[in-house]
Amino acid sequence: MALAERLARRIAATGPITVADYMASALTDPEFGYYARAGSLPLGAPGDFTTAPEISQLFGELIGAWLIDCWDQAGRPERLNLVELGPGRGTLMADILRVGRHVPEWLKAAQVHLVEINPRLRHAQAAALVGHAPQWHESFATVPDGPVLLVANEFLDAMPIRQLVFMNGAWRERLVDWNTESGLHFAPSKERSPLSLLVPPGVLAHEGAVFELSPAVVSVTTEIARRITAQGGAGLFVDYGRGESATGESLQAVSAHRMVPVLENPGAADLSAHVDFALLGRVARDAGAVVAGPVTQGAFLRALGIGIRADRLRRGLSGDAADALDQAVERLIGGQAMGQLFKALAIVPSGGIHPVGFEPA
Ligand SMILES: C[S@@+](CC[C@H](N)C(=O)[O-])C[C@H]1O[C@@H](n2cnc3c(N)ncnc32)[C@H](O)[C@@H]1O
Repeated sequence: MALAERLARRIAATGPITVADYMASALTDPEFGYYARAGSLPLGAPGDFTTAPEISQLFGELIGAWLIDCWDQAGRPERLNLVELGPGRGTLMADILRVGRHVPEWLKAAQVHLVEINPRLRHAQAAALVGHAPQWHESFATVPDGPVLLVANEFLDAMPIRQLVFMNGAWRERLVDWNTESGLHFAPSKERSPLSLLVPPGVLAHEGAVFELSPAVVSVTTEIARRITAQGGAGLFVDYGRGESATGESLQAVSAHRMVPVLENPGAADLSAHVDFALLGRVARDAGAVVAGPVTQGAFLRALGIGIRADRLRRGLSGDAADALDQAVERLIGGQAMGQLFKALAIVPSGGIHPVGFEPA
């Protein structure tokens, strides 16, 4: 039985499900979930989408330097958990560790922990990180105690979201329903949703407006911020999303580099939604952490010196290779590419580290 059929039976038996339930099944169902099922290899040219570390080594190298600077500011602890959430093909971590070779003390201190549910990607990560003895986890909860340097690129956008729709003067929850005529389809809840209490006062409601919120993002951020506050370290989140909590529908499905309808074929496409960075910041502060950002990815990478590093790399290149480097830099920092839409936010303990890259330009 395919996942669509299983969801249809479930809805017929127990009623409509939330968008978050739909996303969780479509992405992480052990048998059919887009990320969890055996054989799924979502990233890179033959996969469904491309990410910043896959575009250029510059991305991982600059983040590596950022992490090493945080460790230096934290007093160079002798042991640290170097954690990546959703490491994809292991490219970002490999680039980080390559930079780490210049600081042997840091490399010696770092124990690599990867939070990953995709079996094929775990294999790809093992191949990319030979010699670094990574340990894998289903969730951050099992990463051992101690200072944490954590990075998550395009991880939070895969966390399930709930959607509210403003109709006839009230926020109702958008649910996923099923019937024989229409198959899986969206339908608003009959009653006003209690989640409407969580819509921040500054968010303007108007007929048809959609507000998205992710309980999963709230819980994972809280857990990480509490850990960093209590045991030291730093966390860096890079993702596409909004700097302010606002209305707007962002849930999307991507398959083979193309947008497809969200409910068309659950488990076959990547589902993601914009991250609410303002919420991320509020949650981390509430857990006792200090927050830097969000700033745009373009501003962050510029502040970390992407221009200088690209100039250095370009010296050894000519012709097509030099053009490819320029195009990659433009994709990472250009306003029409990832530079504006993607944001960076850092979480650190109070009274400690001042993360670089977040100062006003
Ligand atoms: C969009 S990819 C980003 C990959 C990588 N960070 C990069 O930038 O190339 C999302 C990653 O998160 C993993 N992932 C998605 N949902 C997850 C979950 N609930 N728990 C652990 N890993 C998850 C995926 O398998 C994949 O490695």
